[in-house]
Amino acid sequence: MSENALRVLGTASHVARLLGGDDAVHSLYGPEGSHVYHFLTRYDEADAEAMLRVADGKSGTLLELACGSGRLTFPFLERGFDAVGLDASPDMLKLFAERLEEEKEDGQDYTGRVSTVEGDMVRFELGRRFDFVTLGANAVSYLDAEQRVSLFASVQAHLNPEGRFLMTVIEFPGIEQRETPFETLVVIPTGADADIPMLLTLLDYVDPQELLRSSNFLAQRVADGKVVDSKIFTALSRVLPPALLRQELEVAGLKVVAQHEVVSEFQIQASFAIVPKIYLLEASL
Ligand SMILES: C[S@@+](CC[C@H](N)C(=O)[O-])C[C@H]1O[C@@H](n2cnc3c(N)ncnc32)[C@H](O)[C@@H]1O
Repeated sequence: MSENALRVLGTASHVARLLGGDDAVHSLYGPEGSHVYHFLTRYDEADAEAMLRVADGKSGTLLELACGSGRLTFPFLERGFDAVGLDASPDMLKLFAERLEEEKEDGQDYTGRVSTVEGDMVRFELGRRFDFVTLGANAVSYLDAEQRVSLFASVQAHLNPEGRFLMTVIEFPGIEQRETPFETLVVIPTGADADIPMLLTLLDYVDPQELLRSSNFLAQRVADGKVVDSKIFTALSRVLPPALLRQELEVAGLKVVAQHEVVSEFQIQASFAIVPKIYLLEASL
């Protein structure tokens, strides 16, 4: 991932300065940030459920781009799919492998039905085609326009003739009328969960002029009642209206056959000044 991914905007940039500057800022998908991301999102299956509704009870082969720790892959495996997960972060893929082992201990052995590839979704050649290619969690927003052209060409080359490309996207309704940035601050209840013994605060900033979003988790590790370490785990993304992505898919030669609304109970979404809407774009060859 590019260095640009570590650009921090909004209040989090002041906090980063207080914490000593660049050394305090780390990728949300790196060695430590990956645990924070995984902890926060692991129970949100809304987009996986929307994707599986499109599959309509049928199973087949799945290529999941930007699969991370497998939040969306595992529900497909449970439904009998054979899956390949591709991600650029070895740390996220390590969590994926650990989850596979945990599932095995719980009696779900997916050996032989799933593999992962460390790679770039912008350009990949796996030498085979799939019934479903998916890209969840609005991860398309990490790519610039040129990278998206390349992504969609790679997707085309990996879809079966009757296959579907499913991509979740986020819309901030009315953002084009907004002139000033907006930001949300959420203290995340980490409770007594042994996985993540830290204070966690989300500082999520959206710049409607630059169409950039800077999502930052301030993680403060506590020991003996004192904060012993403070870091910011960050990810910089673009605000990409679904209408623009639909147009780009069509230009790339993919036909958009439906746009489904995804309703998530994920609390963080609700605290933005503009409450975002999540959609699943369904495209065919
Ligand atoms: C928002 S997370 C989504 C992870 C998982 N799909 C989920 O829903 O929990 C974004 C993922 O995209 C991955 N990523 C970012 N840029 C990428 C790229 N160019 N190629 C492949 N993976 C990428 C990150 O490593 C991270 O795992």
